[in-house]
Amino acid sequence: MVSVKGIALSLLVATGVASAALSTAALGQDSGLARTPPMGWNSWNHFGTSVTDAIIRAQADAMVSSGMKDVGYTYVNIDDGWEGQRDASGVLYPNEKFPDMKQLADYVHSKGLKLGIYSTPGPKTCGGFAGSQDHEEQDAQQFAAWGIDYLKYDWCSGQGDLKAAFTKMHDALQRTGRPIVYSVCEYGMERVWAWGPSVGGNLWRTTMDIADNYDRMSLIGFMQNGLERFAGPGHWNDPDMLEVGNGGMNLDEYRTHVGLWAILAAPLIAGNDLSKMTAETVSLLTNPEVIAVDQDSAGIQGRRVAQEGPLEVWMKPLADGTKAVGLFNRSTHGLPNVVSFHDVGALERVTVRDLWTRKDLGTFDGSFTANLNAHSVMLITLRDATATAPPSTLSQ
Ligand code: GLA
Repeated sequence: MVSVKGIALSLLVATGVASAALSTAALGQDSGLARTPPMGWNSWNHFGTSVTDAIIRAQADAMVSSGMKDVGYTYVNIDDGWEGQRDASGVLYPNEKFPDMKQLADYVHSKGLKLGIYSTPGPKTCGGFAGSQDHEEQDAQQFAAWGIDYLKYDWCSGQGDLKAAFTKMHDALQRTGRPIVYSVCEYGMERVWAWGPSVGGNLWRTTMDIADNYDRMSLIGFMQNGLERFAGPGHWNDPDMLEVGNGGMNLDEYRTHVGLWAILAAPLIAGNDLSKMTAETVSLLTNPEVIAVDQDSAGIQGRRVAQEGPLEVWMKPLADGTKAVGLFNRSTHGLPNVVSFHDVGALERVTVRDLWTRKDLGTFDGSFTANLNAHSVMLITLRDATATAPPSTLSQ
């Protein structure tokens, strides 16, 4: 296992600096939570409805022992498949796979982590389990009593007005008095990004489900372009959870997945079995410089600045004036890709740093070229070198 202890956590922790396109007044419901995109793990992509109490505990243990907690992963989220039956008074119980939800929350909290849970505004979840319809108040109180810190609320069999349904649960969560991150999941219907904050969403899914293959992941990820003005501290576009470590993509493709999600300031919710990770998977999930791009305090979602067929250049401005840049090759064969410094903010002379290898590559004038494998990315930062360059090089 790779340990990344001792990195500058100040880079990774929310600072509360809000420089998003949306003003606080426009948000209305800002809860103060999720100042940077939420980081954690969710059971769905790997375990589906077979999730158990023991699996959740094992993931919490591994989040600590792998070093993921040290780089900012915090939420351990139970997705669909935990729900049991309601009693005569309507109280919802977990099923036999979760003997004591409060004890499980205590265990996760004892590790310095937080516990998330899942429900739906409809009568049934997507997996056919009991939903919260007509029990919103009761369920919110139950979640708070258990010690839940994050709710993914998934439309599934929901009916009627989307905004009203999501507001109803948000208001019920508010009345519990417990800070609970609110993850809105309705697959991007009715342009959720335009009203997600007004229903109290800290994040909202912008697409249908991801799958563990390059075509699906890249379709979802690259289609986020244009949504950047709707994201910012406390309210994030969510292109769905990570598939890293689930085995369906190669190293270049998983780097594209994580690198694109970082440029997008997307929530980083791992979706693999953390208790059985290769060193490669750990390093994909815990590269501190890549995570620092995602978690940058300015909270600006990156965007595409250039495209030539399958070659794309994306840029995310960081709080310190540095530009994070992703040079992507979406084709099935190797190609060079060039970033013109003008396209990312008119820097002429810059120092380029490779974020995956964590090495400075030198100073470049005007542009930088990366030779890219099929389905790969080079993730770099560009730092203005004009001020520090010696006079002789300035005149060149
Ligand atoms: C939907 C969601 C998934 C997952 C499943 C659970 O498909 O989009 O992320 O929560 O439901 O049934």
